[in-house]
Amino acid sequence: MANVVLGVTGSIAAYRAADLARELMRGGCTVRVCLTPAAEKFVTRVLFESLTGQPCLVWAFDEPEAGRMAHIDWARQADLLVIAPATANILNKIASGVADDMLSTIALAYTGPMLVAPAMNPAMLANETTQASLRRLVSRGVEVVQPAEGEVACGEHGQGKLASVSEIASAAMALIGWTRRLEGRRVLVTSGPTREPIDSVRFLSNRSSGKMGAALAKAALWMGADVTVVTGPAAVPPPLGPKVVRVETALEMLAAASREAPTADLILAVAAVADYRAAEQHPGKMRRTEEDLVLRLVPNPDVVAELGRLAKPDAVLVGFAAEPTDDLAAARAKLERKGLHFIAANDVSQAGIGFESDENELVLIGREGSPERSGRLSKIGCAKWLLDRVAQALPGERETP
Ligand code: PMT
Repeated sequence: MANVVLGVTGSIAAYRAADLARELMRGGCTVRVCLTPAAEKFVTRVLFESLTGQPCLVWAFDEPEAGRMAHIDWARQADLLVIAPATANILNKIASGVADDMLSTIALAYTGPMLVAPAMNPAMLANETTQASLRRLVSRGVEVVQPAEGEVACGEHGQGKLASVSEIASAAMALIGWTRRLEGRRVLVTSGPTREPIDSVRFLSNRSSGKMGAALAKAALWMGADVTVVTGPAAVPPPLGPKVVRVETALEMLAAASREAPTADLILAVAAVADYRAAEQHPGKMRRTEEDLVLRLVPNPDVVAELGRLAKPDAVLVGFAAEPTDDLAAARAKLERKGLHFIAANDVSQAGIGFESDENELVLIGREGSPERSGRLSKIGCAKWLLDRVAQALPGERETP
């Protein structure tokens, strides 16, 4: 049974949250409601406590269980946070990390999947700040059930009416189904760059920030997987939740990932592993001279190919290809050479995607069928898109309709 926290904010549509709570309960969810103080002007705590049989929170210091911090408990225990109706105020607050009431505090402490159903006056929805907040939330993986067009409570016409209860409930139930998709599966993610030392202060590396790997780890966690991340020294930390093994060099990445690979069901090799390392590591700091300096490099092992040899026969192996063009031939060759089931190519010559950026655009190539294109999405959007597809190759998985 899924634990849903339903946040209700100060909109005239707040009364429809009662039906939404019932719909979610009919779907088998345990629903706990948190009202904002403004929502309490429209609907009452008693209404939701009677409907759900659960305590309802309003104020930041509400503590149904003495001595427990409810905002942390509720955030930890929830499988899904739904905010419906979501006013401009709550959207702008949670997009910026403001936590000044119980609901926004739960939202800040919560790390799982979230769904918001905005409802407000059309001008407030069209306001640049609200739109920017919605974009920020989407870039963090929050699902939005868009408000409908029509006459809103203030008499104006435009987009801003809360979507129907059935539409919000179906989106929530679909999300709950999705959060179970990788339950019982072990996912191994290699992420970030490697650093290959030249001397005690210098190294060979690349521009991988670890954002794509972190996004995949987060999406896999949201889908219920048991996740391990083996990461090089990335600019962005992995999300909270997975087992994290930090490494520096390709050889260390190989050693750490090799320990995890034999029990993994899905291996996602996102790391930008240095292909070469210095043949000799100079002790101490190399000094400048007037002579040319020739560094001899030797090839590193192919980590993902090695992991494929160690993996279970039915494990699914996904590589990434950072390509300087949109020509897929090189990516296809890597798929074959490295014994992968899929490779996700990203054209790193394009501005705004690939290395370091917050967005990406993937072309997923399998052993059969035509390549699929994600289009430009946030990295968490790409991660969800990719996992939905590669999960279908796991043993015992149904094709999604
Ligand atoms: O970290 P970000 O800033 O978010 O950037 C994301 C990314 C651009 C790094 C990511 O999307 C990506 O493309 N990762 C793969 C980068 C890469 O090393 O590509 P490649 O074409 O050189 O390698 C192909 C595959 O072989 C990769 O799965 C790589 O992990 C693996 N490999 C490569 C070399 C090596 N010695 N061992 C490997 O396992």
